[in-house]
Amino acid sequence: MALIRLAYASEATFDASPTKSGVEPNVARILLTSRRNNPKKGLVGGLYYGDNRFFQYLEGEERAVHELYETIKKDTRHRNVKTLIDEPLKERTFKNWSMKYVPVAGDVAAFLKRQGLSEFNPYAFDREVCEQMIELIRKSSHDDKLINHSEARPTAAPEAPVSSGVRMGLILAGVVLLGAFVAGGMLLF
Ligand SMILES: Cc1cc2nc3c(=O)[nH]c(=O)nc-3n(C[C@H](O)[C@H](O)[C@H](O)COP(=O)(O)O)c2cc1C
Repeated sequence: MALIRLAYASEATFDASPTKSGVEPNVARILLTSRRNNPKKGLVGGLYYGDNRFFQYLEGEERAVHELYETIKKDTRHRNVKTLIDEPLKERTFKNWSMKYVPVAGDVAAFLKRQGLSEFNPYAFDREVCEQMIELIRKSSHDDKLINHSEARPTAAPEAPVSSGVRMGLILAGVVLLGAFVAGGMLLF
């Protein structure tokens, strides 16, 4: 029973839907399926989705990995699947029996910057960058969270904790209260 590791790059066929939670709905469905299936097959690894591209890393028994890879390659939610790594593995390097996800947007942005990459393009990853990407996923402790790289970039100012309408109401209430105090004080003296 030989262990292997496999990594590939692919291109999503769907247009990313903007979401507030940061999880693209198609990717969230893939995540759910992976979490349901992979532990049963003793498969571990990680998935990263950004700039409409996927990078996935899998570890497990050779047959289980290759069987799943054949299924994944036929999936119409992506295309141009390019194998980056497919080789024997001495021992497992992931502790959890699930799929991991790159959680910290800042880490990924910093990682890409270090590589001189302006976008997430796993097709251009050489061996070294692949290993660093895997390490980034391995270190991730947020198994339940998937961050969409595109949404991870700072695009807009963070939302104010209270809406402008509520803020205006509070100001008005303050003015009315102040007026009441002043009027009350004038009555007393
Ligand atoms: C980028 C990508 C990664 C995927 N990764 C996995 C995976 O790790 N495990 C898995 O079971 N399915 C994965 N899938 C989904 C499979 O292609 C397939 O839809 C699924 O295994 C079918 O599972 P089901 O028979 O339980 O519905 C992935 C699909 C895509 C597009």
